[in-house]
Amino acid sequence: MRAYDLIDKKKKGEYLDREEIDFLIHGFVNGDVADYQMAAWAMAVCFQGMSMEEIGDLTLSMAESGEMMDLSAIESCKVDKHSTGGVGDKTTLVIGPVVASLGVKVAKMSGRGLGHTGGTLDKLESIPGFRTALSDRAFIDIVNSVGICVAGQTKRLVPADQKLYALRDVTATVDSIPLIASSIMSKKLASGSDAILLDVKTGSGAFMKTREEAEELAGVMVEIGKRAGKRMAALVTDMDVPLGMTIGNALEVREAIDTLKGQGPEDFTGVCLELAANMLSLAGKGNAEQCMELAKEAITSGKALETFARMVKTQGGDETVISDPFVLPAARYTLEVKAPAAGYVEHMDAQGCGIAAMLLGAGREKKEDAVQPDAGIVLHKKTGDSVEIGDTLAVLHTSCEERLRAANDRLLACYRIGPVCPPVSSHIFSYIS
Ligand code: URA
Repeated sequence: MRAYDLIDKKKKGEYLDREEIDFLIHGFVNGDVADYQMAAWAMAVCFQGMSMEEIGDLTLSMAESGEMMDLSAIESCKVDKHSTGGVGDKTTLVIGPVVASLGVKVAKMSGRGLGHTGGTLDKLESIPGFRTALSDRAFIDIVNSVGICVAGQTKRLVPADQKLYALRDVTATVDSIPLIASSIMSKKLASGSDAILLDVKTGSGAFMKTREEAEELAGVMVEIGKRAGKRMAALVTDMDVPLGMTIGNALEVREAIDTLKGQGPEDFTGVCLELAANMLSLAGKGNAEQCMELAKEAITSGKALETFARMVKTQGGDETVISDPFVLPAARYTLEVKAPAAGYVEHMDAQGCGIAAMLLGAGREKKEDAVQPDAGIVLHKKTGDSVEIGDTLAVLHTSCEERLRAANDRLLACYRIGPVCPPVSSHIFSYIS
């Protein structure tokens, strides 16, 4: 078999079988297939697409390129959740504890964010002492004793995706649904859970800008998981406006804790409850209404907050973060962003808000950059709110004073203020199973 012939086959729109896909993936990981050949094949996929059979084979081939987590030492159904990412997306911090407090095990392997704001690991690491680098044994023990553990993905998990994603990133081959779906699902399959809920975001702050694209991606990922024997569902949710009122690591942890206390913003709380109910339903806890009631009760009873505190403590963090806001790092400088006009917030560029938070230090421009845990934005006005000239639209937080001006200008450019009050839209667009 030659990589040349497989690239040529895909270029002509023909289908590769599992053996051919394995040849490419294994060869790429061990260096027999060169970067330029893999890049040419990825570009051919961008133009020609892949059949569902090929996407499933590619996903399994990548998943099996490294360690496959064996979670059999954890009793009962393990449910995982994946969000395709967005601005202010801190849902894992809330729904993980909600679901775990109801007896469903959550063994969550997360990545770090690139661009915009940090990922789940960055958020949790803003809690002093919190550790996300755990051995497999410690990870499994914590899931068994607390019900939830959130740990960093090791380099041993899906090496094919690490290498291929880095190549796609610099060869304009990221935006292909077969490649995105197989990349995400290979990591989910290798992480070993029995059921997977996908939160596919769409809108100005999401990877998938239109609902149609998001639904297509969700459908392909659900199908991949089902073919691999997993219980699967996906929600397509709104990311046209940042989720909740905070963007930035420690600020988002604070908001997640408030939400676990039943005092979170309405949009964020609503999305968390919907996701948690769907995870519970996948784990066989009841129908949609019953699971929604269970999720609400986990918050009102304080059980979910208690589980969050136990997770923080067991992973080395300071659990007094629950009651003492001063445990979290606070920025040295703040700046109020003022409304330049009166009217309604007609539209927000959510991605731009993420970039403003990154300029303050909350995210990474390059993979090796460190995040500032205290940096970020507290939004006071979002799409649909009325504003007067001089009202505070948002407050910027950073410990580098010189970052404030650029972030202020970037954030202001994200607000479109005009005479029209936009219609209220739902935060959950579709359900795919
Ligand atoms: N996230 C991933 O993990 N992979 C992609 O290809 C795109 C987003």
